[in-house]
Amino acid sequence: MNKLKSVLNNLLQRKTPQEFIEDGTNSGLKKTLNVFDLIVLGIGAVVGTGIFTIIGSAIAGTSEGPGAGSAIVISMVLAAVASVFSALSYSEIASMIPVAGSAYTYTYATMGEFMAWMVGWILMLEYAISNITVASAWTGYFAQLLKGFENILPSFVVNCPLWLRNDYRTIYEMCGKYGWDAHDKMPFIHLPFGEIPIAINIPAIAIVFILTVLLIKGIKESTKVAAIMVGVNMFIILSFIIAGAFYVKPENWTPFAPNGLEGIFTGAFVIFFAYIGFDAISTAAEETKNPQRDLPIAIMGTLILCTILYILAALVLTGVVPLNAIDTQAPLAHAMRFIGKDWFAGLISVGALCALTSVLLIYQLGATRILFAMSRDGFLPKSLNKIHKKFKTPHVLTWIAGIIVMICALFMDLNTSAELCNFGVFTSFIIICIAVLILRKTEPDRKRPFKVPFCPWFPLMGIITCFGLMYCKFGHKSTSALYFIVWLLIGLAIYAGYSYKAKRAEEK
Ligand code: ALA
Repeated sequence: MNKLKSVLNNLLQRKTPQEFIEDGTNSGLKKTLNVFDLIVLGIGAVVGTGIFTIIGSAIAGTSEGPGAGSAIVISMVLAAVASVFSALSYSEIASMIPVAGSAYTYTYATMGEFMAWMVGWILMLEYAISNITVASAWTGYFAQLLKGFENILPSFVVNCPLWLRNDYRTIYEMCGKYGWDAHDKMPFIHLPFGEIPIAINIPAIAIVFILTVLLIKGIKESTKVAAIMVGVNMFIILSFIIAGAFYVKPENWTPFAPNGLEGIFTGAFVIFFAYIGFDAISTAAEETKNPQRDLPIAIMGTLILCTILYILAALVLTGVVPLNAIDTQAPLAHAMRFIGKDWFAGLISVGALCALTSVLLIYQLGATRILFAMSRDGFLPKSLNKIHKKFKTPHVLTWIAGIIVMICALFMDLNTSAELCNFGVFTSFIIICIAVLILRKTEPDRKRPFKVPFCPWFPLMGIITCFGLMYCKFGHKSTSALYFIVWLLIGLAIYAGYSYKAKRAEEK
């Protein structure tokens, strides 16, 4: 009985906000970021695969759920509403506990060790698994761009074999679809029970490698690169909206919601991926000069800017291209081709590449900083936490995060990993909203430079909207919902097998 009590006490052990702030002050990370850097970081993390690729599936639907059709704009508003309530909660806690680690840190301060570990583990879905999706999408757009230079580049570059620029799953599906014989130039591994095709996604691996090196060189340098990328992709999306607006045919907006409410809610779940990322801002809290003031401004600013941009882009896309002709691979570029503007389609590919690059950069930064906080707290080996002497960045963890993405980019597919990532983010949002409610009770006097208005109603709305959208997807018994449960079980096993003991050993 006593043993059970002590285990329970350990699971609920909290770190106070003050302890986190002290850890953060002594972390050795350089404080260089201002509000502009943070908004760049935010937009860089938010605008990416969602608006350039996933919007197509959210409109047209997939084998695992109906699409929203033109009512995607309503889905977008729903996804934005779910995000706003959580963003406000993030802002309150980020300004209160301005240290690295995002939702992981906040959970540790409110719900104790076990929940903190689980949230950190769930956050890896957002920061690592999503990067696998983005790296795969990056390869797709890169191949499209190379095609645009067919006349200039050598043929072996433009027509590089499929198995050198795809993930394993895609190649496997192609073999199934077109017949194994059609791929006679494909190398196979011969096993007693059959043949396995080889696939190496070289562009994805190369871009992740380059970005890993860049991140190790320093966060300020990295955000400079992100700023250039963000500038380019903002310009391209705005041009798409302005140029496309002249070709909108209002009759394309009818029927407005071909799959009714089911399509709208499923669309909202899918397009939520496009909103993920603003919370990455809070992971850079320890490197921000004035976190109390700058974090909330940057989080809300990013969300409002992106929502306006997305809704305009969706209105133009569904107004220009009839519903049955919406492309799911590169919908915006295809819309331009649809109205005969091929050169503009090429330009959109450049914008997409920039957007995806900045998402990759920022997510790897986020993954590293969360792992940094988790190993500082003893859940992972402390040796991983080394800071580079010259560049003052956590180089070991940066390499680990990069290598995991490079390996997984060999075999994971885009839609399933995006949905899996959404499950992770919805869960962490729900937990953040709960954390706000708890902290208002347990730390009522702590200084809150930013407070969620209409508390407890706004955090409660956040919980209800996120839960509702997750429930829609669970209702469809999707593959990603199953993977999500498996992911949680693996996290549980690691905690029980390693982290719990490591924490106790540390306490002795
Ligand atoms: N919101 C990010 C994207 O759309 C994850 O790529």
